[in-house]
Amino acid sequence: MNTIEKFDSHVMGTYGRFGVVMENCSGASAHDENGKTYIDFGSGIGTNSLGFCDDVWADAVCAQVRSVQHTSNYYYTKVQADLADKLCTSLGYDKVFFGNSGAEANECAIKIARKYSFDKYGADAKRYKIVTLVNSFHGRTMATLSATGQDAMHNYFFPFVEGFVNVKANDIDDLREKLADDKICAVMFECVQGEGGVNALEQPFVDEIFRLCAEKDILTICDEVQTGMGRTGKLLASQHFGVKPDVITLAKGIAGGIPMGACLTGEKASGVLTKGMHGSTFGGNPIACAGANAVIDRLTSDGFMDEVTAKGEYFRKKLAEIDEVEAVSGIGMMIGITVKTKKAADICAKCVDKGLLVLTAKDKVRLLPPLTISYEDIDSGMKILAEVMSE
Ligand SMILES: Cc1ncc(COP(=O)(O)O)c(C=O)c1O
Repeated sequence: MNTIEKFDSHVMGTYGRFGVVMENCSGASAHDENGKTYIDFGSGIGTNSLGFCDDVWADAVCAQVRSVQHTSNYYYTKVQADLADKLCTSLGYDKVFFGNSGAEANECAIKIARKYSFDKYGADAKRYKIVTLVNSFHGRTMATLSATGQDAMHNYFFPFVEGFVNVKANDIDDLREKLADDKICAVMFECVQGEGGVNALEQPFVDEIFRLCAEKDILTICDEVQTGMGRTGKLLASQHFGVKPDVITLAKGIAGGIPMGACLTGEKASGVLTKGMHGSTFGGNPIACAGANAVIDRLTSDGFMDEVTAKGEYFRKKLAEIDEVEAVSGIGMMIGITVKTKKAADICAKCVDKGLLVLTAKDKVRLLPPLTISYEDIDSGMKILAEVMSE
């Protein structure tokens, strides 16, 4: 049996996979078991923020593996303390809870929102509903799937978790109407909807969320799982909108390709969860923390975020030269491409054939390149993409 046959006979078929077995990868280049090379414009769906196997990151991770690979959260580790300090200081938050994924970070945020209102307004107020946006994506666990505002995903697994209300993105009237309900405890949103098609929210809509939430003491939760940790050219996408949510959630690129999720709180929500109310066996695992320390050190190094912004602009300039490209959405290095005549999924498959890894989001081609990608690799990948789009 070859790898794919062995894999398919035992791993559940929950993903539509390409027939490629990845082996040795480095920077923005992936190599399969047959020695074929691929330029990477997907970074493992936005996880390998420093590319494949960055030297400094790999050294930090390997050193941690040989020191303390895991300890129960009943004890302290320096590596987790260092990371918490760096995250809170650089992002402007007070406290963090570490989990292992975006869904887990969002579960934590949902629990915080409900408990915040429970503590302040009492059980009888039944202030437990959370507004999320149509076309959002917040994860695959039962609560985060219920929070996700896509009807197509609300199937098979009934009953879903109660208490999520959807508002149309950028529809201020709809927002006002739904927030008139005194049972709402939080509004949860992505500044740029990722899985929903790389659609950025409009500034007036974001402003109205914050105005109404402040007026009604409703928590703002920004799901920065895909947009956070430098992806958009700032550490957080919410910074582009000049807002500071009460709670933010992070995952994907935070540890450079090792599973980690994080939920950060500001002043309002930092004291909500207390001893015994939440936990995660592997949350804040030292190996993941070592990887995340290397990521945040790089992101906060001199000029790094400016480079991300410049590369994002360079991608957009190159894309504008392709005739098949109808429009380009997103911010920084989170890029959605609307194509004129072709199907995004076909483009993605043809790119794999020709040695380029890209993603899709709804009917768009989506690019989430490693933040460290070189201009040379951007040019090589864009050449393949242009060829595939012009065929
Ligand atoms: C915005 C957003 N939130 C949450 C998730 C879920 O993250 P995970 O797959 O790590 O649970 C994703 C994953 O794509 C996401 O894009």
